Amino acid sequence: MFKTEICDIFNIQYPIILGGMIWVGKSDLVAAVSEAGGLGLMGAGGMTIEEIEAECGKVAEKTKKPFGVNIPLVRPDSEDMINAATKSGASVIATSSGSPMKFTRMIQDRGCRVIHVVANVKFAQKSRDAGVDAVAAEGYEAGGHNGHDEITTMALIPQLTSAVNTPVIAAGGIADGRGFVAALALGAKGIQMGTRFLATHEASAHPNYKEAIVRMTDVDTCVTGRTTVGPTRSIRNRLTDMIVNAEREGAKPEALFEMIGEGRSAMACIDGDCDEGSLYCGQIGGAVKKIKSAREIIDDMIAEAKMVIESLNPLISK
Ligand SMILES: Cc1cc2nc3c(=O)[nH]c(=O)nc-3n(C[C@H](O)[C@H](O)[C@H](O)COP(=O)(O)O)c2cc1C
Repeated sequence: MFKTEICDIFNIQYPIILGGMIWVGKSDLVAAVSEAGGLGLMGAGGMTIEEIEAECGKVAEKTKKPFGVNIPLVRPDSEDMINAATKSGASVIATSSGSPMKFTRMIQDRGCRVIHVVANVKFAQKSRDAGVDAVAAEGYEAGGHNGHDEITTMALIPQLTSAVNTPVIAAGGIADGRGFVAALALGAKGIQMGTRFLATHEASAHPNYKEAIVRMTDVDTCVTGRTTVGPTRSIRNRLTDMIVNAEREGAKPEALFEMIGEGRSAMACIDGDCDEGSLYCGQIGGAVKKIKSAREIIDDMIAEAKMVIESLNPLISK
């Protein structure tokens, strides 16, 4: 059911992908998503080479199904990261924040598949020209780093699927069967989720972080970092208020970098500090009402998607 080209390309049961999530998308979550029939992508952005090898090794112990690793190309050692991932059992590399031209051929020559993350049509076309196997197209409602163009998933996906033949994976603002069917209707061949999979038993985030998602409403995220690290969507808290105020007052990038620093993610993910830590999260977090297992999320999504399609059918015969 719901078998698309994405299932064939990545050898998976459902076209449902766990987006790479820095700090929180580690071996437990990656293996759980792949084992449940989706494709787990590890968030390797904050990992050392040794950690990538170790985490991939743990995934391979937990599942024989395909999995991948997300590698932000802004990391100066991104080639070493790719080498570590492909040597350690990953069959998919999802590249982001950089040129898709750089490593696509090299990765494919090793028998692995490439997804490149984009946020506008121009970069999807560049990715197609680079020969990637699929593009993950991410709208502005997504958690974590967003595109500067501020295009939402609803507007981005149909424009992008009309512009390129490369299979498109829709990301941003999807958390259930309704969003899944909507993405397919817009021409996507699969979906990628971050926020929904963050509120799982298997995600490596402090329970306070997961509970903050369950408690949040539709209007509880904001975007900071436009003048420094790039637009980044998180749950609004004391930290984001502080950054927003500083940005409004024209604070220098150095002062902002100090506020944003890497330690802020550790404060949220490890210490569970939801006031002063950085809680990357998408707008769809308001629809997440329960912490579930990755398998429950995928099973529920498929069952709901089927019901949504059945509920739409009578509309054509009327
Ligand atoms: C906590 C968190 C961390 C993320 N880290 C990364 C990352 O390291 N690399 C990346 O390409 N995308 C990252 N993303 C984006 C996700 O891979 C995914 O595309 C996005 O979450 C989809 O939108 P959604 O949050 O509405 O589901 C992150 C998202 C979240 C919520």
